Amino acid sequence: MPKDSLTITDNRTGKQYEIPIELGAIRSADLRQIKVDKDDFGLMGYDPAFTNTASCKSRITFIDGDRGILLYRGYPIEDLAEHSNYLETAYLIVKGELPDDRHFKMWQHNITVHTFVHENVKMFMDGFRYDAHPMGMLLSTIGALSTFYPDAKEVDEIECRRTQTRRLIGKLPTLAAFAYRRTRGLPYIYPDNELGYTGNFLQMLFKIGERVYKPNRVLERALDVLFILHADHEQNCSTNAVRSVGSSRVDPYSAVAAGVAALYGPLHGGANEAVIRMLREIGSVDKVPAAIKEFKDGKGRLMGFGHRVYRNYDPRGKIIKKLAYEVFEETGKNPLIDIALELERIALQDEYFVSRKLYPNVDFYSGIIYEAMGFPVDMFPVLFAIPRVSGWLAQWAEMVRDPEQKISRPRQIYVGEGPREWVPLERRSEPIEREEAVSTLI
Ligand code: CMC
Repeated sequence: MPKDSLTITDNRTGKQYEIPIELGAIRSADLRQIKVDKDDFGLMGYDPAFTNTASCKSRITFIDGDRGILLYRGYPIEDLAEHSNYLETAYLIVKGELPDDRHFKMWQHNITVHTFVHENVKMFMDGFRYDAHPMGMLLSTIGALSTFYPDAKEVDEIECRRTQTRRLIGKLPTLAAFAYRRTRGLPYIYPDNELGYTGNFLQMLFKIGERVYKPNRVLERALDVLFILHADHEQNCSTNAVRSVGSSRVDPYSAVAAGVAALYGPLHGGANEAVIRMLREIGSVDKVPAAIKEFKDGKGRLMGFGHRVYRNYDPRGKIIKKLAYEVFEETGKNPLIDIALELERIALQDEYFVSRKLYPNVDFYSGIIYEAMGFPVDMFPVLFAIPRVSGWLAQWAEMVRDPEQKISRPRQIYVGEGPREWVPLERRSEPIEREEAVSTLI
């Protein structure tokens, strides 16, 4: 009978250990019994960037990167993008099941009553410089919300978690729109709770002089689909940040602010912004082959390509590519699409990209749509953060409820100096090597 276990022979001692395998994984803590002597700390796994370490068990999102499959709570992303709307998908992600009509209406109501923010938030916004990046404004104001809701610290209380979840999902579009209006020097527009989630967001962004703002239905739906596609993506950099920071039992505003900070980076949620800058820099279709050569030579990366998990076409990328043409019907074509298509065409035939299994990811085409819809590039990561908050909160709540979780605290392998004798300042020489070593550190 095959056994669900792993037998390890430690060649340093000749001892054998049997370690259970559960759900395709071993517990790293089980390695600690493998020691050379009783003073030995025990064997650890070394996994920089967590490329092969599961940090949790999760029921939220499933990805099969080789086959290009993405499921939220078991539902394929393609079906959700076609039939669902963002608020319903957020309910699914947060609560685990699709709502019936009554529960959906209650959910919609509970989110909508939380769209307003305290008037002081406008003062924070006003404090930023005119050219402040809206993602920086978003992350600071989300962090600041924790000071408005001291009750949010009761993270072990389910009612508290529910309230903060509704507040955060409700307020994110308002904060994002305020940040945008600040950068434009436009007056802040209050939420219109007669409109849907995305329609209201569009009016807070773009309403200028009209008494009643009527969102363009195609653009409203396109943004809603983009929100569905971005709602969760299991244990990526920002989700890991939310879980890790949240594991200290800090309030969810502070934990989500950490997620926004992680998302801000160009290798994560900042990639769609980087894609547009890259496409603009390339400038025209005829310059694409030269650009591809530069990427292969290691001069920059082909932004919007490659993924830690997908070794196939990102299923979200496929949906977004199709969506782009629906948006162009309304807005006119974004000329950058031709450069993007040519980059994709050449890259997908090029040995460098093929052998490394680098395919377009979610960010390759999303920025082109956002730009066609009239968003400035620095709003792109903000548009990613708004829907991702439902995923972060579902992951955070799962972590808080999980009896196996504790405060996150990775181990390290210390490779620095051993104990050294203190040298008084006047006796410290400046050999060249020391000078060089010091100047390379930071
Ligand atoms: N352009 C050129 N080469 C690349 C690229 C790229 N976009 N991505 C990976 N490679 C190469 C990389 O140089 C390495 O080559 P070699 O084996 O010769 O050293 C190999 O492919 C493996 O790359 P890696 O950096 O080890 O892969 P990773 O899993 O650590 O990184 C990634 C994943 C997404 C950070 C990376 O593919 C990348 O930087 N892509 C561009 C940025 C981007 O589009 N990010 C958005 C990710 S999707 C949305 C999100 O999650 O936020």
